[in-house]
Amino acid sequence: MRLPGGPTGKNPLSAVIALALALLATSAVAEDDFELAPIRYSASTPDNPLSRLQARLDAGETTLAWDDSSGWLGGVLAALEVPTSSQTLVFSKTSLQQTRISPRNPRALYFNDDVYIGYVRSGEVVEVSVADPALGTVFYSLEQVPGEHPRFERRTEDCLLCHGGSQTRGVPGHIVRSVYPSRSGQPIFSAGSHRVDDSTPLADRWGGWYVTGRHGDQRHLGNLTFDARPATAAEADPSGLNVTDLGDRFGPKGYLTGHSDLVALSVLAHQAAAHNALTRASFDVRAALYREAALNRDLDQAPDSRWPSTNTVLDGAAKALVECFLFCDEAPLAGPIEGTTTFATDFAARGPTDGAGRSLRQLDLERRLFRHPCSFLVYSPSFDALPAELRARFWARIDAVLKASDPGPRFAHLSADDRRAIRAILVATKPDAVAHWPAAD
Ligand code: HEC
Repeated sequence: MRLPGGPTGKNPLSAVIALALALLATSAVAEDDFELAPIRYSASTPDNPLSRLQARLDAGETTLAWDDSSGWLGGVLAALEVPTSSQTLVFSKTSLQQTRISPRNPRALYFNDDVYIGYVRSGEVVEVSVADPALGTVFYSLEQVPGEHPRFERRTEDCLLCHGGSQTRGVPGHIVRSVYPSRSGQPIFSAGSHRVDDSTPLADRWGGWYVTGRHGDQRHLGNLTFDARPATAAEADPSGLNVTDLGDRFGPKGYLTGHSDLVALSVLAHQAAAHNALTRASFDVRAALYREAALNRDLDQAPDSRWPSTNTVLDGAAKALVECFLFCDEAPLAGPIEGTTTFATDFAARGPTDGAGRSLRQLDLERRLFRHPCSFLVYSPSFDALPAELRARFWARIDAVLKASDPGPRFAHLSADDRRAIRAILVATKPDAVAHWPAAD
């Protein structure tokens, strides 16, 4: 498919819309329940690390550093405490500033627990997506123009074209995809694509991305361009494997590092999916509670009358979140993987740890991503902002799994030792868990 060119940083031009539609199985634009009460996505005022940074900038309490080769990028990362070692590089023309992205000019992404930053060398804007406890994912752009008063602009419809539909579970969310890019970086749509989350086998991951790291004889689709889709990943050119230096694939000027760390990519895939799961669960439950309150009012019921349909939504949301947070669908690794930056050690060092020095951020990287597979996003503001009744059911359900003598086939990937360790770490580090668990143990 040939897309019309044109600048795409600021306005939703036809090229972006065409790409959005080409990437989507169904139209994203129809999925706008989140524009209605109680979420009122676009009409509500965000409150998240980015909106608070803007408030500090407006009040003159902080400034952003500008740099002539990468513009606001370094300043934004520093102000939001996003580590440079989280850098990943994607060269497929799959996102907003696609006309500027190519294997010779990859897009760089960075993230911490709450904030994701997108940067294109010579791009018009720095792109930001941020986990907003009330609104799911909120989007901003910052024009790459030096000035005294940098201003992040909140963006809605033009980001939601891709970030608010079937690719993101119908909520404003994050996208990680694996495509089959042509030599120019154009995704070959006829070859298909893969959503990348914990369940995606390494063999299907990272098409259209650079990948730096070692992974033995395991395969992935990164570092390659294609003329057509190979029948299996094993048929893809092996020159993309175990790449630790991207050499002269693109000039270094304007990039903060030359890496696209395999471990950072793996954590990104988990975190983006887990954030989307949090948003989906939060929106579903808040909508159900809102409908219930309206029904109770209309039917003159007591305000706290519980409807079976609300229980169904609460239970479904808690079940989905527990299964996501305990990595029930994780595709196992067939052998060790390692990255090429300090990402893994920086990430693991952030804890929090229990008395035995264990933490949910400890990586395994041999059989699976995490040593103790319970998502570190239990520590996130988005998790804490879930409706109280949903959190209560989440903790009850997770406790039952962690304490069961046999938690059943869905949790067979967790040994009794795994479950004991996860529970001990949560008891030591997550007061909200303890508050929901019987005092006796
Ligand atoms: C044409 C579709 C499309 C549009 C429109 C779009 N994005 Fe994206 N975005 C993507 C895709 C696809 C990815 C996954 C990485 C990649 O392929 O580049 C992504 C990833 C991102 C990421 C990395 C983390 C995440 O949230 O997935 C950020 C940040 C981001 N986009 C910001 C924005 C902002 C801000 C806007 C609106 C101003 C926007 N995007 C509009 C397709 C789009």
